[in-house]
Parts: sequence; structure tokens; C-alpha cells
Amino acid sequence: MKKITIAIDGFSSCGKSTMAKDLAREIGYIYIDSGAMYRAVTLYCLRHGLFHGDEVDTDRLKTALPHIDIAFKLNPETGKPQTYLDGALVEDDIRTLAVSSKVSIVAALGFVREAMVSLQQQMGREKGIVMDGRDIGTTVFPDAELKIFVTASPEIRAQRRYDELQAKGEKGSYEEILENVKERDRIDTSRAVSPLRKADDAIELDNSHMTISEQKEWLAARFRKAAGAE
Ligand code: CDP
Ligand code: CDP
Repeated sequence: MKKITIAIDGFSSCGKSTMAKDLAREIGYIYIDSGAMYRAVTLYCLRHGLFHGDEVDTDRLKTALPHIDIAFKLNPETGKPQTYLDGALVEDDIRTLAVSSKVSIVAALGFVREAMVSLQQQMGREKGIVMDGRDIGTTVFPDAELKIFVTASPEIRAQRRYDELQAKGEKGSYEEILENVKERDRIDTSRAVSPLRKADDAIELDNSHMTISEQKEWLAARFRKAAGAE
């Protein structure tokens, strides 16, 4: 079977990383959560006082960005990838509503996207990678052999995210999360630099009424076809 590149894009909280992670583990590919990289930069901005309301101090961020160290390491116990910012584990810190409410602002900055896309392309230069995000099939890996574009209704997505935060004991009401999901979709689809859109050659998946195991099966079948196993 040939080694391929798999790009999974779509709206916020629709199950992209869940399906991407599962598939990567099963087929022995590297998994990269590109959203975690934008979240890590956002956490950096929050921690270093680079936000003034919804405005980012772009001069300070431009100076800092080349020195911000974002890395992924597998948790030795669970085998799951975890995000590190400047050497410290931030996997939970980057998923809070505080970061979610600012991340699309940071991700709309052209110089931030340029730096992240370049890192992502380096990570995927040998193929055998599953990456999820917003612009993977359109900008990061336009030649990916398999591109998936995931959608689900905003209400279902907000409910999934709410359930997840509740299970972790995090704060956030359903209404607040729904608002955040819709607002990020709005910013992500309307920004000037690589807005969220389906690549022409991406396969669309509406998983509103699918279970996690159904979507896993669906993706595994698409992978086998794209990698030439059937
Ligand atoms: O997991 P969730 O769908 O909530 O979001 P995420 O994948 O963690 O991404 C967080 C944010 O980063 C998105 O709302 C986008 O603003 C931005 N992002 C992006 O612009 N490009 C990507 N390739 C990935 C994420
Ligand atoms: O990466 P993205 O933001 O698109 O979503 P995620 O973090 O993979 O998934 C959001 C939540 O939806 C997780 O808690 C999943 O367990 C849940 N979920 C799912 O991924 N797929 C379904 N068909 C149903 C729920």
C-alpha cells in the first residue's frame, strides 16, 4: 500500500480530530492537530498580555513568533498526542473557552498562518500523515491524496463540545459554546487569508447523525480506496 497524505478539514467541533486520530493510530501514520498550533499561539498571547480586548499586539507577536516552541509528544500511557508550548504540557490549557474565544482572531493573522503552514508542511514532507484543520486540503497539502470535509449542524457540534467540557469539569454553558462555535465559523469562513472552504476534490461528510464508530468505518473505507488497498 502506498503512503499517502490525508487532509481533514471542516467546521469547529464536528469530530475531525477524533476521526483523524483514530485513523492515524490504526494505520500507523503521524497525526497532527493543526488547530492545536493556533491554540498554542493564542495561549502564548493570553499569557504574555498580548491581547488588548479583541486586538492582538501584532508587533510584539511578530517578534515573539519565531521563538515560540510548539511541539507534539505522545503520552506514554495513553499513546495520545499532546501539545507542548515552550517545553510545558498545555493540552488542557489550549482547550479552554478562554482560548477558544480568541483563537480565530489569532488564526486570521497572515504572518501567523504563514509560519504555521510552513511548520505543517515540514511535518508532512514524508507523507504518512493525517492532519486536521481548516485549510489543510486547500493550502497546506493541496496535493493530498485523500481530502475530507466534515460538517454537522452548529447545535449538534455545540452539544458535543459541551459534553466534552462537562466531562472534564470545565466551565461554559451550552449557549456560550454555541455562540463560540458560530462566531468561529463566521470568522474562519470570512477571513482574507485561506478561509475555511471545501477543496474542490474533497469528499464531504455530514456526521450530524453518525456515531463515532460509524464515522471511523466510513473514513477507514475511504483510506483503503485512496491508498490503493482495494
Ligand atoms: O477543535 P475545534 O474545531 O474547536 O477547533 P480547532 O481545530 O482546535 O481550531 C481552533 C481554531 O484554529 C479554529 O477555529 C480556526 O480559527 C483556527 N484554525 C485555522 O485557522 N486553521 C487550521 N488549519 C486549524 C485551525
Ligand atoms: O476536531 P473537532 O473540533 O472537529 O472535533 P473533536 O474534538 O474531534 O470532536 C468534538 C466532540 O464530538 C468530541 O467529544 C467527540 O467525542 C464528539 N463526537 C464525535 O467526534 N463524532 C461523533 N459522531 C459524535 C461525537
